[in-house]
Amino acid sequence: MFRRVIALRSIRATARALNVAAALLCAAQASTGLAQEVSTYQRIGQGDSRVDYDSTGYRTDSKSLASLQGESANLIALLESPPLGLPKVRGVQHLTPAIVSLGRRLFFDRRLSFNGTLSCAMCHIPEQGFSQHELSTPVGIEGRFVKRNAPALYNVVYRRTLFHDGREDSLVRQIWGPLLASNEMGNPSMGSVLNRLKKTGDYTEDFARAFDADINVLTLGQAIAGYQQVLLSADSPFDRWYYGGDSAAVTESAKRGFTLFMNNDCVSCHQLDDDGALFADGDFHDTGVGYFDAVIRKREPHRLQIAPGVFIDVDTDVVPPRQSDLGRYEATGLAEDRWKYSTPSLRNVAITPPYMHNGAFGSLGAVIEFYARGGEPHEGQDMRIRPRDLSEHDKADLVAFLEALTGSNVDALAADARIAPIGDF
Ligand code: HEC
Ligand code: HEC
Repeated sequence: MFRRVIALRSIRATARALNVAAALLCAAQASTGLAQEVSTYQRIGQGDSRVDYDSTGYRTDSKSLASLQGESANLIALLESPPLGLPKVRGVQHLTPAIVSLGRRLFFDRRLSFNGTLSCAMCHIPEQGFSQHELSTPVGIEGRFVKRNAPALYNVVYRRTLFHDGREDSLVRQIWGPLLASNEMGNPSMGSVLNRLKKTGDYTEDFARAFDADINVLTLGQAIAGYQQVLLSADSPFDRWYYGGDSAAVTESAKRGFTLFMNNDCVSCHQLDDDGALFADGDFHDTGVGYFDAVIRKREPHRLQIAPGVFIDVDTDVVPPRQSDLGRYEATGLAEDRWKYSTPSLRNVAITPPYMHNGAFGSLGAVIEFYARGGEPHEGQDMRIRPRDLSEHDKADLVAFLEALTGSNVDALAADARIAPIGDF
């Protein structure tokens, strides 16, 4: 019996390894049936940071899923009065506790996938920043390869566009992306999802209570969107210093890092305002990551990490051809949008590795190194991504600043998520 999500980080994954990963993740979720056996309460913290995962001496801090017990948080209050550092939330559906709790339950329900194995929460894991630490790109239904990194869902209500290429702009509609993708939750049609949920009979009353309506395309979207809308997280050490005026809230190193962040163009894309900071600009940019993937990494051997410190270079014959990823171009068809990706928020970035649309970097230090060397120079790369004269000291300061962006309620949100039943229906 697997008692925790097994650490498996794919660098270059084979189809077979992906199947194994899927099986492990499923086994990990199935093991939650053990919850009743555990009597001692364990506060839910963040998952593993994966520091030293490249070494065979790696030791995990992962908590057993069986030991996780939920603790409810007042999520709607977060929406009404966002934590320090976030702007007011405008123009969203009116939420009630009934909608939020229904959405949370659906978010964890594996029956939303075609074969009943995969829930939203298995790629957006609450203890892993509602993203996934283990895999640079997640594993979908029946071990199928998904080409992009699972983004963190904190503060998603503020995002003007969704997905790394911005192809969707509504959380209510967004759910049909993963639900219908043949390599994610694998459903053949909207009707099949709705009918399956109706047939269980488990949700009829909840939908009636939340919407005074049956399960349909709109109410299912509204319920799941409702839960994601309230996942607000800020009031980080940075916020308590910058917006709250508490100069002791952050270290001197983080303060120096913030100055470097302001003076090295970072803030021009990862923006902040007087009334709050999302550290994003709602726009798309070519930082060189897409070019690196398509042109440089393509020539490298397919390297797979199968356990801490254990790597194999696999024969390209057994690896399915790498799917191309042209970024924003895939949503607009415009040549100038090639390899442009949505600017991610930097809030909680320390707890949402790996980074970039493809999970190319495992640590914040690696991201900073990438920026310091000027991305991967090529025609089309944003002018602001250029070699920077940053000392080792400066780089450490920048990382300290990014680490000061972790919200005060991330553990509370993870604990709240775990009040939802998982799996064993
Ligand atoms: C197999 C893993 C997987 C599953 C299952 C999954 N997601 Fe995702 N999710 C992803 C990936 C990967 C992306 C980015 C895809 C892209 O940019 O093309 C994503 C993107 C998103 C986004 C956009 C966030 C942003 O900032 O742009 C939201 C919202 C989201 N998922 C919610 C959900 C919900 C709700 C479900 C369940 C109905 C779900 N996901 C199921 C992997 C998954
Ligand atoms: C031209 C706009 C732009 C500038 C300037 C910029 N970034 Fe970014 N940043 C982006 C985009 C776009 C991504 C996502 C790239 C991708 O997904 O491939 C990103 C990703 C990141 C990430 C990873 C976040 C995640 O969750 O994956 C970090 C950390 C980051 N940037 C920090 C910085 C720092 C520090 C600087 C200054 C040295 C900086 N950025 C400058 C646009 C920018």
